[in-house]
Amino acid sequence: MADLNHRKVYIAGHTGLVGSALVRRFSRLEGIELVTAARAELDLTDGKAVESFLQKARPDIVIVAAGRVGGILANSLYPAEFVYENLMIQANLIHGSWKAGVGRLLNFGSSCMYPRESRQPMSPDQLLSGQLEPTSEPYAIAKLAGLSLGSSYNRQYGANYITAIPCNLYGPGDAFEPTYSHVIAALILKFHKARIEGASSVEVWGDGRARREFLYVDDLAEACELLLLSYDRSEPINIGSGQFSTVGELAQAIAAAVGYEGEIRWDRSRPAGAPEKLLDSSAVKALGWSPRTDLCAGLKQAYAWFLVKHAS
Ligand SMILES: NC(=O)c1ccc[n+]([C@@H]2O[C@H](COP(=O)([O-])OP(=O)(O)OC[C@H]3O[C@@H](n4cnc5c(N)ncnc54)[C@H](OP(=O)(O)O)[C@@H]3O)[C@@H](O)[C@H]2O)c1
Repeated sequence: MADLNHRKVYIAGHTGLVGSALVRRFSRLEGIELVTAARAELDLTDGKAVESFLQKARPDIVIVAAGRVGGILANSLYPAEFVYENLMIQANLIHGSWKAGVGRLLNFGSSCMYPRESRQPMSPDQLLSGQLEPTSEPYAIAKLAGLSLGSSYNRQYGANYITAIPCNLYGPGDAFEPTYSHVIAALILKFHKARIEGASSVEVWGDGRARREFLYVDDLAEACELLLLSYDRSEPINIGSGQFSTVGELAQAIAAAVGYEGEIRWDRSRPAGAPEKLLDSSAVKALGWSPRTDLCAGLKQAYAWFLVKHAS
């Protein structure tokens, strides 16, 4: 594909973290026609409604940025919704896109798709090679099914549907609701409350030693534009920042961004997850992408957005 200008692009999940970053980035492209539909207008778990929406809209490109997404707590509390809704949303959008003659589609996987004991950094050849992390298994299985859906339509019908696997994302549009939030949003909220209330310490789950990779969501949106232009393979492609930090370093950086100066206490009785989760992103880097936003700058922007949206 030469460029995305003058294309009709449907972004499913445009109100979410990823979807809103894609809207910010793609709305700058010349003559692009962005199609969106709020949940109240279109429930993506409803196959008939999705099919008729796509038949009417007839986009050139579909981006599946919708899903049931959350951290360890939400995955443990709602495994049924995590597997069911993600399966249905991906199946409805991928099958409906194929029926509506959509040639190009971008879906998102998650690093939870990789086996729990994966070699680090994780590369797509390791998918389906071992046991998944039990807490997020329903979500991971739905994501693996989404990958298989896309590649099967490519194989059987010559579609050009691709899957990107991002590392942990953060930035404007993140969910700060305690049950659903990921680690960065959860810690921003905790440190913000502690600063406002003048608390002398903040408790954080685990021991702070787990190593994770974080990517500012607008950098992901830039990678997505590049993938739609230049990535045509059924094999999923990792998108990670290559900036690895321990959860302890992350907590210090968030405390600094929020201006919290009290003590961080580690609650070692709580789960910390796998010791390391890092993606091998050499393939997307070879296409010419690299992240622009370092963690400290990104955290400041995420906190500024939080203050505008949530801290009235
Ligand atoms: N966040 C991460 O760290 C991360 C990392 C790796 C991969 N991903 C993947 O990236 C994709 C987007 O994640 P995200 O973090 O942007 O999620 P998010 O912020 O929770 O946004 C989800 C979006 O999906 C919409 N949605 C969910 N169920 C729907 C339904 N039944 N009908 C219509 N709309 C529905 C939501 O609409 P409402 O606004 O109405 O709720 C929202 O717009 C997901 O596939 C996720 O697995 C995310």
